[in-house]
Amino acid sequence: MEMRMCGIVGVTGTNQSVSILIEGLERLEYRGYDSAGIYVNDQSGNDYLVKRVGRIVNLKNAITPEISGSTGIGHTRWATHGVPSETNAHPHFSNDERFYLVHNGVIENFKQLKEEYLSGVEFKSDTDTEVIVQLIDRFVVEYNMDTQAAFLKVLRLVSDDSSYAFVLMDRETPDTLFVAKNKSPLLVGVGDGFNLVASDAVAMLKQTHTFMEIQDQEIVVVKPAEILITDFDGNEMKRDTFQVEMDASAADKGTYPFYMLKEVDEQPAVMRKIVQNYLNEDGDPVVDSQLLESIKEADRIYIIGAGTSYHAGLVGAKMFEQLTNIPTEVHISSEFAYEQPIMSKKPFFIFLTQSGETADSREVLVNVKKQGWPSLTITNVPKSTLSREADYTMLLHAGPEIAVASTKAYTAQVAVEAVLAKAIGEYLKHPRAAEFDLKHQLGLVAVGMQALVDSKEKLESVASRYLSKPRNAFYIGRGTDWSVALESALKLKEISYVQAEGFASGELKHGTIALIESQTPVIGIITQDRTAGLTRSNLQEVISRGASVITIVTKHLAQTDDTIVLPDVDPLLTPLLSVVPAQLLAYYTSLGKGLDVDKPRNLAKSVTVQ
Ligand code: G6P
Repeated sequence: MEMRMCGIVGVTGTNQSVSILIEGLERLEYRGYDSAGIYVNDQSGNDYLVKRVGRIVNLKNAITPEISGSTGIGHTRWATHGVPSETNAHPHFSNDERFYLVHNGVIENFKQLKEEYLSGVEFKSDTDTEVIVQLIDRFVVEYNMDTQAAFLKVLRLVSDDSSYAFVLMDRETPDTLFVAKNKSPLLVGVGDGFNLVASDAVAMLKQTHTFMEIQDQEIVVVKPAEILITDFDGNEMKRDTFQVEMDASAADKGTYPFYMLKEVDEQPAVMRKIVQNYLNEDGDPVVDSQLLESIKEADRIYIIGAGTSYHAGLVGAKMFEQLTNIPTEVHISSEFAYEQPIMSKKPFFIFLTQSGETADSREVLVNVKKQGWPSLTITNVPKSTLSREADYTMLLHAGPEIAVASTKAYTAQVAVEAVLAKAIGEYLKHPRAAEFDLKHQLGLVAVGMQALVDSKEKLESVASRYLSKPRNAFYIGRGTDWSVALESALKLKEISYVQAEGFASGELKHGTIALIESQTPVIGIITQDRTAGLTRSNLQEVISRGASVITIVTKHLAQTDDTIVLPDVDPLLTPLLSVVPAQLLAYYTSLGKGLDVDKPRNLAKSVTVQ
């Protein structure tokens, strides 16, 4: 079975289609891919299919001057099974070369479809996508169906557990894109005399700021001056457009060598943006009162997330418990989806997801909705799937995050959780919430972050001295510092491929300390009064066994030989600062090794398969 996170772009009604497709695919590079392809048709009987393995630049180099057209589709494919190859790359086409299709997702029943309907048909690739395009062709050619009807018939045959975003082209109606989605993201970009579709608005921002949602179980027919949406029963659906006021350059690297560094640097500005959006002049949170009322009824908060978002949840749980007194649990979405614990009577669910598209998290949300439990999605992407499907949404306002390793989305998640925790706490008249001067504190955090991002040279030299050679490294801490240790270790392993673990520092001696050898890097995070002395003792234990120790310590707990000193802020908010040096240590370790910081091997930014 082939699995994809893949990026899709389609356009019709402009002779710039080739460059729009290529630039759009570049904007979707963050999704991860290992091959790319485009198909364009010039409406006068000429069409072109180009696919290349590897980076988009290979595809670009293969495009000769005669390749042009006014309608086209493009795709970046990310394979976990099966080698990336030109034949497996999209667009796929029917044997008579009439239909061309790009697909993001997994067709779970493709083998059955192939056996049942396509015996004797010769296949060029190993993909489930090719089965779909051959099947559409069969229904059109042999059963004389029109293309839309054949497309619908195939969509109905696709099993419910499948996921897809499809854009189909037919040589007989070369100005038309046939579009459908289920679980995988896809939206329409509305232009003047031309229209687009893509997996993410970011891929279309250069052409338009006006968009239209596509819902699951709809077919959208996109022509240069017309967008027609129908449901699977043929009913025409009216859909309002919406505006995304994001500047296309917000997704540009500018003078930065990598997006990750730009995104780390943006964190002080993101903190200020969150203050502007969520705290009024008096510092009171501005949060939907219905949301607060709904959480007020809850006897327990369940935070669900994957990867970095899960780590942000661990930090947030402590804020919810301390500021609201509501017991809070944090779960990895892929675990919770299949091993649900015994639930409290009145749960409230918070989904943390930068992209709003993570399939593991969505699986939980679908189930939560079935049970009738209330939910909030905290996400960076307006109108994303998890945002649309939860009862409430709070946006991160972090601007597009392109690097695979998440940085500003993590700190934005922690800050928005703080806003929400304070808002609920005040609503419940919990004294600690009223005392918590979040506006002032986030101001201190922004200044502190700025000082940390300005100390890059120091972090670069620490990274090169301690982290460039060893194969293993450990981050340790207790309580909230342990939560940050988990995130810090994830950053390091994701982009520098150093095997890094985050440990509860008291737990090291119960087994893991056996791994400490001469010069094994151990990075201690110390920001909490109650546990500072204990973590220092744990660091002594590893020093005695030869470890190279680096410390990240909050100012009032610092000692003369600490490596990195963080400005003092409220103990609930120290993760916003302690994570920044860890992000930069990961960045410089990766950079020092000459790796592709933004696009680490085997990883994708948005994981839309389970
Ligand atoms: C992928 C990304 C991670 C991210 C995780 C959850 O694995 O590589 O950086 O933390 O997905 O993504 P989400 O969009 O739900 O926060």
